Amino acid sequence: MKIAIIGGGNMGVTYARAFVRSNIVPTENILIIEKHDEKREALKNEGIALLSDNIDQSISSYDILIIAVKPQDFITMSGQLKAYLQPNQLILSIMAGITIATIQQHLGGHQKIARAMPNTPAQLGFGISAFAISAEAGMDSVSVIDTLLETTGKSIFMKDESLIDAVTAMSGSGPAYFYYFIKHMIEVGKELGLEEHVAAMLAKQTMLGSFQMMANSKDSLDQMISMVASKGGTTEAALNTFDRLGVGTGIKEAIKAAEIRAKELSRG
Ligand SMILES: NC(=O)c1ccc[n+]([C@@H]2O[C@H](COP(=O)([O-])OP(=O)(O)OC[C@H]3O[C@@H](n4cnc5c(N)ncnc54)[C@H](OP(=O)(O)O)[C@@H]3O)[C@@H](O)[C@H]2O)c1
Repeated sequence: MKIAIIGGGNMGVTYARAFVRSNIVPTENILIIEKHDEKREALKNEGIALLSDNIDQSISSYDILIIAVKPQDFITMSGQLKAYLQPNQLILSIMAGITIATIQQHLGGHQKIARAMPNTPAQLGFGISAFAISAEAGMDSVSVIDTLLETTGKSIFMKDESLIDAVTAMSGSGPAYFYYFIKHMIEVGKELGLEEHVAAMLAKQTMLGSFQMMANSKDSLDQMISMVASKGGTTEAALNTFDRLGVGTGIKEAIKAAEIRAKELSRG
């Protein structure tokens, strides 16, 4: 399998590194097309892929093309790519908010398209990506894309592309929600008299430890909450305050707002 990655930024490079690390594709079968000299120079030192500064005829020999440019660069990029596309090539787009139909439209009706929504923990192999495919890509493409995405963490196939907007709101934006919660824990820790590094250590290790508890338990989240929150105790005081302030509702409303924004962006 030969893979060309268009856009050697954060995400494009994440995939190249993950493919090599997982022995899915050898280094010499990966091409990164990146327009910035300094980024190519840095990648050259890593030796993880062949490098090129623009899209040309050579891309025709690659089985899978990963589009990892920013959504606003897609129209220009598609104009360059269209001339060299081969009908059997499978395109995997990770661009936020660009639908399969839009990709097909700008790539001269190219049929075999997969669209994924990854998230930043992919850089460490702890990402989660959801993906959909065009009807013409065929179910064989599902296992190919699944294998590629799983090199960066977990992967879920969605039969219904419109659910990618919900995925964007949940896991695409999700890391920022987590950082937001921890940021506020650290701020209040300082207000309560803790030194910043102590507050940061308490907040971060608590999140890590709690995740491990959740991942290793068969109990429901409600059961896990009640194991920490004894009647009349400190945790109950905090949870009652969350409820009084509508924090749970706020979280749901925020994620719904992200989903609405994802839909708006997809419509263009
Ligand atoms: N980062 C995330 O958390 C995340 C999560 C989910 C999805 N995504 C999607 O992943 C995609 C890539 O994001 P990123 O953060 O990796 O972006 P990035 O760091 O900006 O990388 C894209 C690179 O591609 C270059 N480029 C643009 N057009 C090109 C062309 N025609 N030929 C060759 N190189 C070209 C860009 O140059 P310029 O800087 O000059 O444009 C840039 O160096 C985006 O579409 C984004 O929506 C990102």
